[in-house]
Amino acid sequence: MERTTGVAGDDNVAARTKVAVLGLGYVGLPLAVRAAEVGLDVVGYDPDEGKVESLQHGVSYVEDIGDNRLSQLTSFEPTSDVHELREFDVAVITVPTPLRAGAPDLSFVESATRTLADHLRPGAMVVLESTTYPGTTERLVADILLDLTGLRAGRDFHLGFSPERIDPGNREFTFETTPKIVSGTTVEALDAVDAFYSQLVATTVRVSATKVAELAKLLENTFRHVNIALVNEMAILAHDLGIDVWEAIDAAATKPFGFMKFTPGPGVGGHCLPIDPAYLSWAVRTELDKSFRFVELAVDINNHMPDYVVSRAGELLNSRRMCLNGARIGVLGVAYKPGTSDVRESPAERMVELLAHQGAEVWVSDPHVIDWNRSPRVEFESLYDALVETDLVILVTDHEEFDYGKIAEFSPLLLDCRNRFDSAAHIAKL
Ligand SMILES: NC(=O)c1ccc[n+]([C@@H]2O[C@H](COP(=O)([O-])OP(=O)(O)OC[C@H]3O[C@@H](n4cnc5c(N)ncnc54)[C@H](O)[C@@H]3O)[C@@H](O)[C@H]2O)c1
Repeated sequence: MERTTGVAGDDNVAARTKVAVLGLGYVGLPLAVRAAEVGLDVVGYDPDEGKVESLQHGVSYVEDIGDNRLSQLTSFEPTSDVHELREFDVAVITVPTPLRAGAPDLSFVESATRTLADHLRPGAMVVLESTTYPGTTERLVADILLDLTGLRAGRDFHLGFSPERIDPGNREFTFETTPKIVSGTTVEALDAVDAFYSQLVATTVRVSATKVAELAKLLENTFRHVNIALVNEMAILAHDLGIDVWEAIDAAATKPFGFMKFTPGPGVGGHCLPIDPAYLSWAVRTELDKSFRFVELAVDINNHMPDYVVSRAGELLNSRRMCLNGARIGVLGVAYKPGTSDVRESPAERMVELLAHQGAEVWVSDPHVIDWNRSPRVEFESLYDALVETDLVILVTDHEEFDYGKIAEFSPLLLDCRNRFDSAAHIAKL
């Protein structure tokens, strides 16, 4: 592994290079915008015409990309027309890699690769960024392109994998400042992938094979997932032992070496943590006929956290001679993490479902999420009035926009899943 640091934009390897970005979502749009900002000609292709139209009108749907950034671009063309991909020099695939029935669903990668095949020329470069199991780039993507074009990766065109580490809402580590792992199926491909990304980010990290880069991405997210599961289980046990787990975690975190702080929560969400470890355990099971026990245990613990929160909600109501059935419950924050409107795999979804199943009347309020249709939604402006009419409030996602003083003041009973409040008679921590 080698780390290369340079000044973004100072490498002229590919001036006026035509870059095709396939998939303009949370990963693809920031990449496309950055590439256009450093002067490359960028075509962003997405079959979702609504997204493309929005971008064509200069309106971003990804919170980290402001409309003002879009309006300054002179070489970014969003399109749903595959013909605009013609004569690309570099194509980057940033399409979803979800699970279907617990197994990797690579149908989006396959279809994007087939789309590219129609326009692939000798000497071009293709990079996969979608998170996936080791071997996808050099087997699935290379094979589809060979079958459809007769062009062989490493001989006729460069093929690489460069995982995205974008952390939506994170202002400290952005696309440009987060080191980017780069890989290629040959040394020449690695050099080409490295040269391309060196124009976009401050630091690239070269690894020797695409499957190393693929595994590195899964390791990062599995590491996080497993450690969150550890503190989640510890929170459950500490509650039963009558110990404040948050205080214990803060105390442990004063150790300047050998400890990394993770905090408990109502479950994991988003497009990475609940899904990526399953890609790894699926690959291990399929290729080695072995189980990845750490991953499977962590998935089990994290998936059950919404159920645990609901059981704690029932206990709290019980302590006030109430029950879930008929209780008015307000859920604060339904995005999977603060500062984003992303509700994919959000634990709030399962929690609301479980509460409703028990007969509770649930409303939610989230300053970022306006298209929630799984339960009534209270507008952010009316939130503090709604709190007083509620039997129990559950803080699920601790957005900065919430006024925590007012929430503590107006909530008759509060379950704090994020350690945002000091202990009080009417406030319980997860
Ligand atoms: N969101 C994150 O924070 C994050 C971080 C790191 C890695 N990833 C990984 O990056 C990949 C993309 O994730 P995302 O969050 O950007 O997904 P997303 O759903 O936000 O965006 C994907 C886009 O791809 C488009 N698309 C679907 N099929 C297509 C096709 N055949 N050709 C072109 N476009 C197509 C969709 O319409 C959508 O706009 C996934 O593998 C994900 O695991 C995501």
